[in-house]
Amino acid sequence: MSESDLDAVLAIEAVSFPTPWSRGMFSEELGRDYSDAIVADQDAGCGIAGYAVCWCVAGESHLLNIAVAEGFRGRGVACSLLIECIRRGAQSGADHIHLEVRAGNEGAIRLYRGHDFVFMGIRKGYYTDTGEDAILLSREIREQDAK
Ligand SMILES: CC(C)(COP(=O)(O)OP(=O)(O)OC[C@H]1O[C@@H](n2cnc3c(N)ncnc32)[C@H](O)[C@@H]1OP(=O)(O)O)[C@@H](O)C(=O)NCCC(=O)NCCS
Repeated sequence: MSESDLDAVLAIEAVSFPTPWSRGMFSEELGRDYSDAIVADQDAGCGIAGYAVCWCVAGESHLLNIAVAEGFRGRGVACSLLIECIRRGAQSGADHIHLEVRAGNEGAIRLYRGHDFVFMGIRKGYYTDTGEDAILLSREIREQDAK
């Protein structure tokens, strides 16, 4: 992801979350050396189908954000972004990847379950905008994930 992607990223973000990240928040991620912000190209550089932001800190990876443009959902874009985050985590020496997901976000939970994430716990009322609980999921990162 680069600054020039942010208009497209923010348009996806706005329709994907009740409390979307701001331009400043994405810009900040672009400046952090421990943050990987990645985009999925629509068709050979014609636009952005989705993006993900992942941190790798102290031997652990944390997926902070992932979203796909509405017209591109159900085609494996999030799956590809997630695999790339796991790959980058593996290359950075992380042994686990963690994330929080809204308890009612069944599609996303299915996505993570399909990639071997396991239940770690619940944070009650974690999302202050809707009062929803956060489900904590985690997945081991294995040596072969680096390929
Ligand atoms: C969740 C989200 C990222 C999925 O993106 P996507 O590109 O459509 O997902 P994929 O096509 O890669 O789907 C991979 C798997 O996830 C699951 N999945 C994804 N969306 C689903 C949905 N709406 N309903 C049921 N299962 C879903 C399925 O198991 C799917 O595998 P399958 O197609 O073989 O059944 C997308 O719906 C989105 O951007 N939502 C809004 C933002 C969001 O909730 N982000 C996650 C925050 S934790």
